[in-house]
Amino acid sequence: MPSSLQCQEKLHVAIIMDGNGRWATARGLARAAGHEAGIEALRRVVRAAPDENISILTVYAFSSDNWKRPESEVAALLDLFRRFLDSETEDLVRDGIKLSIVGRRDRLPQDLVCEIERVEAATEWGDLLHLRVALDYSARDMIVEAAKKAAASGELSRDSLTAALGAPDVDLLIRSSGEQRLSDFLLWECAYAELHFSPKPWPDFAASDLKEAMASFHHRERRFGALQAA
Ligand code: FPP
Repeated sequence: MPSSLQCQEKLHVAIIMDGNGRWATARGLARAAGHEAGIEALRRVVRAAPDENISILTVYAFSSDNWKRPESEVAALLDLFRRFLDSETEDLVRDGIKLSIVGRRDRLPQDLVCEIERVEAATEWGDLLHLRVALDYSARDMIVEAAKKAAASGELSRDSLTAALGAPDVDLLIRSSGEQRLSDFLLWECAYAELHFSPKPWPDFAASDLKEAMASFHHRERRFGALQAA
């Protein structure tokens, strides 16, 4: 697709916010301090996203495999999500940001589920940016559940599965901290995503890094399996 057309498009960008732990350890801090600093980086990116024509931003905050981490780190992360939801609602509503949590809810503490429902209801009319936070998320599990839902409705197809998953294809996937893998994130939605790997740990990720990733995205030619336009 010509880059001029790509420029006008509203984009779905996904981010694997990796490297919080290493960032903290390198500074002699507890890993939880890295996650705290990760929230600041998320705020920077959310503020910068609308100017980059991003209408949907999906971020990976806690994978279903993250339950395998030490109990203390899991507790610190859940507490951080609680505090984030509690402190952010007013700003999200003011800034026109709709917040959704994607992933399983049946294993989250009940008070966190209530807080999620409260913030989702409060922000549901936000139309500047849709911020989707993946919590207890596994793309494989999501695909299985979506396939069951689509099949039960009588039509199992690409479109019905995409609809059941609840988000359009990802245009650009960013991963911080130098790792180059998908880690069970948005596997269906990323079928034709462009990939951008940043060496920076997530807490150091700045608005300028998002800008750089978007600039690189706009220089790519996306052919979706077809040939270059004449
Ligand atoms: C991966 O880094 C990051 C996480 C498992 C947690 C991500 C959470 C945040 C950025 C906090 C803010 C999010 C919200 C929505 C409040 P890692 O711990 O695996 O880092 P490492 O690979 O260096 O150990």
